[in-house]
Amino acid sequence: MTVVAQLQDASRVYPMGNTIVRALDGVDLAFERGSYTAIMGASGSGKSTMLNILGCLDRPSTGKYMLGGRDVSDLEDDELSRERNQRLGFVFQAYNLIPHLTVLENIEVPMEYGDVPPHEARERSIALATRMGLADRLDHRPNELSGGQQQRVAIARSLANDPVILLADEPTGNLDSKTGKEILALLDELNAAGRTLIIVTHDPKVGARAHRTVHMRDGRILRIDENGASA
Ligand SMILES: Nc1ncnc2c1ncn2[C@@H]1O[C@H](COP(=O)(O)OP(=O)(O)OP(=O)(O)O)[C@@H](O)[C@H]1O
Ligand SMILES: [Mg+2]
Repeated sequence: MTVVAQLQDASRVYPMGNTIVRALDGVDLAFERGSYTAIMGASGSGKSTMLNILGCLDRPSTGKYMLGGRDVSDLEDDELSRERNQRLGFVFQAYNLIPHLTVLENIEVPMEYGDVPPHEARERSIALATRMGLADRLDHRPNELSGGQQQRVAIARSLANDPVILLADEPTGNLDSKTGKEILALLDELNAAGRTLIIVTHDPKVGARAHRTVHMRDGRILRIDENGASA
């Protein structure tokens, strides 16, 4: 199995007055290609801190983060954002779509920073939107869509540059349970097609769909459950 991402004794500390907060405290964790990992734990246990490092939105204070065989722990901001744009896709609880752009234009945003010619970007965004069941909503703006549809746009956008890893922080947190299940089924499909998935969640039902659940406490890994065949 190929390891696509790996934290090695990774810590993230924040100076707070005279003390420091250890938001992440010496974590070792590897992600294999095609794996599906849920990260769970109480509020403040370090889940988002870890996801932000895995997503190249932040760097470890000490220790290493290896992404695709490359140590990205000490990259400058512009190089880090290039890694982020080319290798990683994000889905957030709050969708984070751009209000004045249409569905197609939102999906195309990540491609604007790459070398994708506009006509190809348009073809790709139509294909992605169609795959997400949005074929009849291509010219709608976010406020003309339901929450579930907005999250589908966000997922399509996250796939725009064909990322190695898809990271999601509470992706169903704002959705009713039926719509949430549809989004989770969509993520299951993406994983079944080979995409590496990392999801932060408070919901044990979400955690149970993953191949393994990493339980965090006080910035450390408390326990890892292997879930066997996902439901
Ligand atoms: N910018 C910051 N400055 C200082 N401390 C921070 C900062 N960001 C996070 N922390 C601290 O680091 C710890 C971990 O925070 P983190 O956001 O990773 O938790 P979490 O597990 O995602 O929680 P939640 O479930 O509430 O989202 C917390 O104690 C938090 O107060
Ligand atoms: Mg968080």
